[in-house]
Amino acid sequence: MSLSIPERGWYKAPAGAEKLWIGLALTWCLVMSVMMPYWHFRGKQNSRGEAYAVTPAAFFERADTFVQANKVGERDGIPIVEPAPGGDAYLVARMWSWYPILRLREGQTYRVHLSSMDLNHGFSLQPLNMNFQVLPGYDHVLTLTPTSKGEFTIVCNEFCGIGHDRMFGKILVE
Ligand code: CUA
Repeated sequence: MSLSIPERGWYKAPAGAEKLWIGLALTWCLVMSVMMPYWHFRGKQNSRGEAYAVTPAAFFERADTFVQANKVGERDGIPIVEPAPGGDAYLVARMWSWYPILRLREGQTYRVHLSSMDLNHGFSLQPLNMNFQVLPGYDHVLTLTPTSKGEFTIVCNEFCGIGHDRMFGKILVE
């Protein structure tokens, strides 16, 4: 089949069901556009945008000091660490793991510091579906209050190479 010039007068303005569909899609776009800033201020699962510049080496040093001081166990070679209620916790993302495993108390508020050692990773807490970017060079502080007990899985949701699909972490809430 070869390309040919369309006949004159090929354009017909949308009508009937097509017009209705365009209207519905447009309305939904507008609703979503309004909801994004609305949830930014009213939602309870948003970052405050608190972030600081940090080198990966300096961040890892802080995280490791935190791990050594608060370690309570180990699982599959990864330390389980329990921060003091109301205190700081550190979570390191790197190709292709999360370090350490955090053990938190329900109803307590923590300052969870997130950063990456290498490239852009994604922090996706499941099954709650809370999502944050994890970037090298930034200490992103999440003020976090667990509201339910259980074992939560951190999935990396930014493609970060060959081990991306196996980059899982854990947050335990007791
Ligand atoms: Cu880390 Cu994908």
